[in-house]
Amino acid sequence: MAELDGRVAVVTGANSGIGKETALGLARAGATVVLACRDTERAGTAADEIRAAAGTEDVHVVALDLADLDSVVACAVEIAERFDRLAVLVNNAGGIWSTRQLTAQGFEQTFGVNHLGHFLLSRMLLPRLVAGAPSRVVNVTSFGHHFAPLGMRFDDLQSERRYVSLEVYGRSKLANLLFTRELAHRLSGRSVDVNAAHPGPVRSGFGMDGDLGGIQGLGNKVVRLFEITPAAGARTSVYLATSPEVQGRSGGYWVRCRPGHMSHQARSDAQAARLWEVSEQLLAEAGFTAPPLP
Ligand SMILES: NC(=O)c1ccc[n+]([C@@H]2O[C@H](COP(=O)([O-])OP(=O)(O)OC[C@H]3O[C@@H](n4cnc5c(N)ncnc54)[C@H](OP(=O)(O)O)[C@@H]3O)[C@@H](O)[C@H]2O)c1
Repeated sequence: MAELDGRVAVVTGANSGIGKETALGLARAGATVVLACRDTERAGTAADEIRAAAGTEDVHVVALDLADLDSVVACAVEIAERFDRLAVLVNNAGGIWSTRQLTAQGFEQTFGVNHLGHFLLSRMLLPRLVAGAPSRVVNVTSFGHHFAPLGMRFDDLQSERRYVSLEVYGRSKLANLLFTRELAHRLSGRSVDVNAAHPGPVRSGFGMDGDLGGIQGLGNKVVRLFEITPAAGARTSVYLATSPEVQGRSGGYWVRCRPGHMSHQARSDAQAARLWEVSEQLLAEAGFTAPPLP
């Protein structure tokens, strides 16, 4: 029997790159897979390809724009209505943008999409993950969290005073790690394991297609020559979502299916707790409520 037979797995940003390969890996592991994607047309094409490659019909698409919290709420409500229990949530979607842009609710986009949208989605889906326990949350972070050596910069979370895309991206990936550790801590004893994965340098749509311009965009194209395939990049996410070897292990940072080296900032309990509180406050100020933990 495959690891996830008959159980439900949600993957954000699953229409391309690492997310699509992660969804394929989970479908091959027997899961009913939900692709939570901004571009539902591309997600439909990805779903067809996953169905054909995994030999299953059990692949579903739900709309999700992480840059609009109304869409995040609608996505969580639709998933909760359609599925009583979740086995896996992979918070994979993310991006890096060369200029400062805002989400629908006025948050800086990198923080808003990579962290805050996933924070709300996860909180809203937790009752279904607890109902499906033993279950797992995988947050796709990056080695890039090391590019935030000064931590979260709580005095300028929206990068209004200074916007350097790599730094802002690094902080959003640090936020993914701090959220991973805090959620793991708060869910301790509930059989919902929460871990973070660095996929490695992957040849995907990431930082391309005009997302990153100038010298960084050029650098990105050179780096491409040394990158691994999206399928290889998805391995750690699939491992953390499925492997019996990591059952009961929570709050970790994983690289190539092994424990990785978290930055000093990522290991800060104080920052993890503060980011949790501040994220709830920011959501509340925008008119959204993160439900209490189940
Ligand atoms: N590639 C790397 O070398 C690398 C290294 C370390 C970490 N990562 C992480 O890996 C994850 C996946 O990246 P990737 O390399 O697969 O990049 P990708 O091919 O660019 O895929 C990114 C995914 O995120 C989705 N996304 C972006 N903004 C969104 C929004 N507002 N709402 C919903 N979905 C949104 C994209 O959807 P659309 O198609 O609609 O844009 C796409 O499906 C990211 O979290 C990234 O930080 C990547």
